[in-house]
Amino acid sequence: MRKITYHELRKMWFDFYQSHEHQIIPSWSLVPENDGSVLFTTAGMQPLVPFLLGEKHPAGNRLCDIQKCVRTGDIDEVGDNSHLTFFEMMGNWSLGDYFKKEKVAWSYDFLTNPKYLGLDKERIAVTAFAGDEVAPRDNEVAEYWKQVGIPTNRIFFLPKSENWWQLATGTGPCGPDSEMFYDTGKQPCSPECNPSCDCGKYVEIGNDVYMQYVIHQKDGEAVPAKQRNVDTGMGLERLLCFVNGYQTVYDSELFAPAIQIVADDCQKPYLENTKAFRVLVEHTRAATMILSDGVVPSATGQGYVLRRLIRRAVRMANQLGCSRNVYEKLIQFYREFFQGIYQIDASVTKNYLEEVDKFSKTIEQGIREFNKILPYLKDKRFSGKTAFRLYETYGFPIELTQELATENGLTVNMEEFEAAKNKHSE
Ligand code: ALA
Repeated sequence: MRKITYHELRKMWFDFYQSHEHQIIPSWSLVPENDGSVLFTTAGMQPLVPFLLGEKHPAGNRLCDIQKCVRTGDIDEVGDNSHLTFFEMMGNWSLGDYFKKEKVAWSYDFLTNPKYLGLDKERIAVTAFAGDEVAPRDNEVAEYWKQVGIPTNRIFFLPKSENWWQLATGTGPCGPDSEMFYDTGKQPCSPECNPSCDCGKYVEIGNDVYMQYVIHQKDGEAVPAKQRNVDTGMGLERLLCFVNGYQTVYDSELFAPAIQIVADDCQKPYLENTKAFRVLVEHTRAATMILSDGVVPSATGQGYVLRRLIRRAVRMANQLGCSRNVYEKLIQFYREFFQGIYQIDASVTKNYLEEVDKFSKTIEQGIREFNKILPYLKDKRFSGKTAFRLYETYGFPIELTQELATENGLTVNMEEFEAAKNKHSE
């Protein structure tokens, strides 16, 4: 495998699809316009929904872009080798133009042609939709994969849970997809081993969605759409990690210098504190991008998610013993890195640091409240309801309450905390 930089990968993507008459469109904001159903842009197709449903796009019916996205559903997984809350999705679209035949040929060419990714042809595996009562088994896409050279034993038919794509809102354009994987060469984990298992044999590299259905209302049935579209998504960070042969996205140039900034600041070894380092840089990067799209920390909506990201970053920085300068340096790194791609101006640092300072006050206040309660405890259990009140009223994170409890020889009644929290969110 050869080394490819972030900028080379972006250029390669655009060059490839431009050579197939696609127009490049810019990334939209992370804050969806005219769409109250979601807080953030979670996929490249989201801003294009009206065009996937038939409206004419001013740039034509073959589009290509790299879209900024935020997904927080897996926020607790951040810190492992690949999960991110902010990521960039390389996409290309056919809006009622070409369909499966062309898309399969181009996907295969992009992956295997030495001018582009140049991956080993023998290691590409793909999936296709196995079919259900709504949409038939996708023999058509499998046939096209065979035509480009993928043998039958590397084409896997999988059910809806794996090979169907729709927005998390449960509405909008949707359809069967065909995912592309790289076989790492590991032994199969069982006779049923296939790209959907997480034994590590297969690494996902991209997804082609054939959007030929639409769900008109929540929990409604998918029905055939007026227009047949293609929506491709390739996660840039993961692809960059994979093509360069890294074990984790944090080894790439998108994160490694940021990790070094943290190490220099706190003077602690990364390898003994990987989770804290990774969460700190990942959340700061995500917060930087959200702030640069004009969101400010607040108690609701996008501002609340942003606040949560910053506060989690601060908790990690505190745990590592970082100075307040670390945030500024990280934001500066991303400002320079994304120069010419995304505009990150000085207000980002200002707003980020304001939240850091506010949170430090919250922590002080929460600790005072916690200590006031201590003399009244009858047993070694800290009430979950009280922990929830600290969280709800002072924004005091439950992890902090748990840490303080442990320091005082107590445990927090977490069942009660969860129950109070669920009741509240209902
Ligand atoms: N919309 C598809 C996805 O996000 C490509 O995976």
